[in-house]
Amino acid sequence: MSVVILDFGSQYTQLIARRLRELQAFSVVVPGTAPWEEIRGYQPRAVVLSGSPASAIDPDSPRPDRRLFDADVPMLGICYGMHLLARAYGGTVAPRRGHEYGRAQLIHQSGFLFDRLPQPLDVWMSHGDVVASIPPGWAMLASTADCPVAALSSSDGRKVGLQFHPEVAHTQDGAKLLERFLDLAGVDRTWIPETIAEQLVSEVRSRARGSRVLLAASGGVDSSVLALLLVRAGVDHEAVFVDHGLLRQGERQEVEAALRPLGVSLQVVDAADRFHAALRGIHDPEEKRRAIGATFIQVFRERAVALGQFRFLAQGTLYPDVIESAGVAGSANIKSHHNVGGLPAELGFELLEPLRLLFKDEVRKVGRILGLPDNIRLRHPFPGPGLAVRIIGEVTPEALDIARCADHEFIQALREEGLYNDVWQALAVLTPVKSVGVAGDGRRYGYVVALRAVTSVDGMTADWARLPHDVLDRVVARITRRVPEVGRVVYDITSKPPATIEWE
Ligand code: XMP
Repeated sequence: MSVVILDFGSQYTQLIARRLRELQAFSVVVPGTAPWEEIRGYQPRAVVLSGSPASAIDPDSPRPDRRLFDADVPMLGICYGMHLLARAYGGTVAPRRGHEYGRAQLIHQSGFLFDRLPQPLDVWMSHGDVVASIPPGWAMLASTADCPVAALSSSDGRKVGLQFHPEVAHTQDGAKLLERFLDLAGVDRTWIPETIAEQLVSEVRSRARGSRVLLAASGGVDSSVLALLLVRAGVDHEAVFVDHGLLRQGERQEVEAALRPLGVSLQVVDAADRFHAALRGIHDPEEKRRAIGATFIQVFRERAVALGQFRFLAQGTLYPDVIESAGVAGSANIKSHHNVGGLPAELGFELLEPLRLLFKDEVRKVGRILGLPDNIRLRHPFPGPGLAVRIIGEVTPEALDIARCADHEFIQALREEGLYNDVWQALAVLTPVKSVGVAGDGRRYGYVVALRAVTSVDGMTADWARLPHDVLDRVVARITRRVPEVGRVVYDITSKPPATIEWE
């Protein structure tokens, strides 16, 4: 039982899925043009038609399977999705003079959907077309100064169209509107961490019980949750943790201390020397990544072979990766971070990807149910190539020491100030720039370290974290005192886009 979201290419489609899941309704995203058989396969309790950069008037714009409109399933059309609904049931859509973008004030009629919501309601608009006439028998529920039909519904209330975006944070009470639609549609709210964890354990058990499973443990939350699922499912497994010498301070010990007591069969491979040798003399970021990737695969393969035969390779693929690689979202600017890419085919593994329907925050919640300690569960994301992407230029043992210490001081300070969990990710970058400073009586050249802390939902976009100035002040004092090679510290206040989170 789920809510099926038909994606017509809106930048907000993933957000709709997230919002519905926050309301404990399981939701999946499928391409807007998916055949009815595929949609029906999900046993939809409701269907959401997303927005789109396309225009419903354009004959070449993406359309849902016609049979959807004959099915007796509740539907919510958002923006373009509302235009599709209006046209399908006999209304008309017309181009608007100019695109309306941004906040608008919605005047709404009484009725279940808008009952007891503020009047007017602040909503977020982004559209070029409008509904010119509503389908026969339908009701107009709301309007704005620039948009006469900003919400409409069928006479039985089971089909609803909204011109604005209830899924974005700028829309006041957007979650309430979505919740009311779920109520109208009679959607079950069973998507809670306990049930998700139970489902995952039983899925892993039925697929992999009786087979051996290999896992690349990274110390991150995804692979750790995966390891615990294998334990809970009673699956014979080996989790291989490659210490590439590019880890954060104390990370390896922390991972061992967290996972072994929970029953994870953890193999640690100390391969720092091999990675350091592979990185010697390399300055170019892409070449560094390639050297690390190739060495990782070599080291991992050797250990895998030494451990005997495995049927499955477990990977912590998450839902955003799945949506991206299915080409659903229509934007292709996100990297995939599979650190063991290429291995499954080469070694004849089948893939086990039980987290493929989850968002990161859901993985964290499942981790709580499975007993994953908070230091791992709530840990900031850390790139597979580790500190190598946080050292600009060659990765030398000296550079690693400086980057690792600066990172440690920054992270410790955030923890002590109680701010660690308020940011999505925080990091220190060692730049190759040396600048002048004063030490005692003399002038001294020291490295410039850049601090970056960002807020984000999924790392795809990010804003720089407004850390209090006095906290930054203490962090800088701490770093310059304890890491003497650092002469100057700067704070990065660029959002993503245009910048990325890592500097590379
Ligand atoms: P960027 O720098 O592209 O990073 O804005 C987005 C998020 O991805 C992380 N990242 C990686 N994670 N392997 C990973 O597992 C990688 O190669 C990699 N590169 C970047 C980055 O830390 C941020 O959270």
